[in-house]
Amino acid sequence: MKRIELKNGDITALTVDAIANAANSSLLGGGGVDGAIHRAAGPGLLAECRGLGGCPPGEARITGGHRLAARYVIHTVGPVWRGGGQGEPETLASCYRNCFALAREHRIASIAFPAISTGVYRFPKELAAEICVRECRAALEASQRFPARIVLVCFNPDTRRAYEAALRDVR
Ligand code: APR
Repeated sequence: MKRIELKNGDITALTVDAIANAANSSLLGGGGVDGAIHRAAGPGLLAECRGLGGCPPGEARITGGHRLAARYVIHTVGPVWRGGGQGEPETLASCYRNCFALAREHRIASIAFPAISTGVYRFPKELAAEICVRECRAALEASQRFPARIVLVCFNPDTRRAYEAALRDVR
């Protein structure tokens, strides 16, 4: 049974095949979930990221999980919210689509996402959740097994409420 599940807490603690990172275009770490992932993965992750040459907004890059329980980290760079008139929704949708393309390519059966762009990048949580849920449903339709399980991690109550509403309302 294919599933999208909500989980509260720290994404670095999850035992899934891959965790997605809400990175910046340098891929050299930062605060928020990016900082937490690099702290948990250890210096080997930064060393591997240095070799990637950055990542434009909307795209995704894959690395090993290093000291994380997850085998892979899929780094994606979300849009900074600038009012919604500069293609931010399309860029966020592209983040999820590119993460799922890498999941299919690397036969990743379970993947966890933080609420990309909704922290420092200030993307509205409700709209971000609708975009996320729509792309998750499309990814589950596009492949039987990769992924079979998607975990949407809620690090605060507002994020959880936004996902619950999106799961109820987005067709
Ligand atoms: N586990 C799960 N989710 C987390 C964690 C964690 N350990 N820490 C933070 N979050 C949540 C935030 O609460 C928010 O809901 O991740 C979501 C994304 O927030 P940010 O980490 O601020 O990411 P984003 O808004 O995409 O901004 C990216 O912030 O950290 C820098 O280098 C990063 O420049 C980039 C920018």
